Amino acid sequence: MPPVKIGVLISGHGSNLQALIDQITTGKINGQITVVISDRKDAYGLIRAETHQLNAVFVDRKSCSTETEFNRKILAVLTNNEVQLIVLAGYLRILSGEVVHAYHNRIINIHPALIPSFCGQGYYGKKVHQAVLDYGVKLTGATVHFVDEGTDTGPIISQRAVAVERDDTVESLQNKVLNLEHQLLPEAVMLYCAGKLKIDGRKVWRIEDEKSVN
Ligand code: GAR
Repeated sequence: MPPVKIGVLISGHGSNLQALIDQITTGKINGQITVVISDRKDAYGLIRAETHQLNAVFVDRKSCSTETEFNRKILAVLTNNEVQLIVLAGYLRILSGEVVHAYHNRIINIHPALIPSFCGQGYYGKKVHQAVLDYGVKLTGATVHFVDEGTDTGPIISQRAVAVERDDTVESLQNKVLNLEHQLLPEAVMLYCAGKLKIDGRKVWRIEDEKSVN
């Protein structure tokens, strides 16, 4: 099978992008990143992409008069780079319905909490970990899911949990959860690229054994 052409969308540090690059380099993922797109010019992930000779593109929201126009620009970059799978690796904007529709069941997102907790509008990055601490839950974690028209509502591919300890801070939780993310996201992308994920309504299974991905 030829490698799946992947477009990675980022907004920041790009540690999840790095985890993907590493697993593609070792041959574990049958994929090829044909473009990395950032909505922030100063995103460190763009530098990571350039370091690995990947096509890195900044799409400026300020150059577009509407969100629709901005998303159409992103869609055009994805199409021009023949992207077959979109991976949202710390992309902190909401994709328009038009993009989600064009890539139906072909967009994977990583979220830094156990969906359906601490997700949806306004829950992104450190805000999620702050909300977890404020609520006092004993477990948090990471979720990988397909993207649908809602915010963080699509079918869940995999989840992993980690304990919230008494002395945890936003930073310590972020580190613990990122550690999980760097395992979960490449694993899900590997399964997708191998054609091993089956979506059955809201449920996602590994094809060969019909088991949960976890
Ligand atoms: C990650 O924790 C990711 O789960 C989160 O942003 C961080 C990006 O880190 N994404 C969201 O909050 C999306 N709702 P990274 O740039 O180092 O990969």
